[in-house]
Amino acid sequence: MNAPLASAHESVFAGLRSQPSDPLLALIDLHRADPRNGKIDLGVGVYRDDDGATPVMAAVKAAEAQLHSTQPTKAYLGAAGDEAFVDRLAPIVFGAARAASDRLVGMQTAGGTGALRLGADLIARARPAARVWIGAPTWPNHAPIFHAAGLAIEPHPYFDATTGTVDFDAMLTSLAAARPGDVLLLHGCCHNPTGADLSREQWDIVATVCVGAGLVPFIDLAYQGLGDGLDVDAAGCRRLVATVPEALIAYSCDKNFGLYRERVGALWALAPTASTAAVVRDNMLTLARAVWSMPPDHGAAVVRLILEDDDLAAFWRSELEAMRHRLTSLRQSLAWSHPRLEPIRHQRGLFSMLSISRDAVATLREQHGIYMADSGRINIAGLRQDTIGHLVEALSATL
Ligand code: LMR
Repeated sequence: MNAPLASAHESVFAGLRSQPSDPLLALIDLHRADPRNGKIDLGVGVYRDDDGATPVMAAVKAAEAQLHSTQPTKAYLGAAGDEAFVDRLAPIVFGAARAASDRLVGMQTAGGTGALRLGADLIARARPAARVWIGAPTWPNHAPIFHAAGLAIEPHPYFDATTGTVDFDAMLTSLAAARPGDVLLLHGCCHNPTGADLSREQWDIVATVCVGAGLVPFIDLAYQGLGDGLDVDAAGCRRLVATVPEALIAYSCDKNFGLYRERVGALWALAPTASTAAVVRDNMLTLARAVWSMPPDHGAAVVRLILEDDDLAAFWRSELEAMRHRLTSLRQSLAWSHPRLEPIRHQRGLFSMLSISRDAVATLREQHGIYMADSGRINIAGLRQDTIGHLVEALSATL
């Protein structure tokens, strides 16, 4: 037998601490394991139809069939991913004229999260002392993404739970402490988790504040088309891009193309000049190369095929409109069902937030089979007209 080798091993893992599982993802498993008939899943943010399903959109199926029969190769495309996908998407986000600006550069990313992280890495490389102002509450993954890039976070108030609207005065008061070069993270539409969006006038004021205080807006646009329609949902983003010298826009096709697990997103940067924009793009490419090297292709190719074909694009828009109308009608019914739920009528997108305690959330889950995030966030699409009554009845003790 060989003598054991002398070893100077020091564990590379010894400094790790165990991590709590992500509560939202844990909720998926809890719901799946619940055998009760009539359980209601208002947890993770995926669109659901009247049958509680998240079907592949018909326009996506058609484009996938086309891709399957015509795609000549799966060889690498490069760190920028599918550039035609980004070119086709840009006019939907920015409008045709602005999309053509040579101050605006974009590239495909691994989902909206990848876009946020790439943008965060870009800021950290360009201006490591920048602080990122993030409204409270926000998508729970926002802060970890910016922290992971090494950036400091500054929370500011965003939501007034008593009115169910944006606490705009408190937000502006807090932002007065921001420094030039700081970053302001904004939800482009369909705020996650509250559904409370900035009004057109508030976007105008935010644009003025960003210019006056030298703040760089970073817009997270993950639900375009699920609020008031594609153009209205992008109006705040377009307003800012038309006004400020610099901005970042993280985009996700997960929800509006129903491509969740394909991880389809894009990151755009607006720079003061075309030559700076070119430098920014070079940096985006080198950062992406060091993270995912090349983004996943399938979903982006599907979106490109849809947007390249007028008929398919019109069909996709009609499917998206049907999804949006379903959300609007559920919101109206919820608002009708209880006076405390009235603000839900004016909120937009997949989410609204109930003002209930964590204990009440647990009781709803355990006693009534109703699943929602611990924050009280509900995914409106998880309801049906005929399950609203069950929710409201179960809520009656807490509302
Ligand atoms: C959500 O907010 O439920 C979705 O965006 C899924 C996620 O990754 O958190």
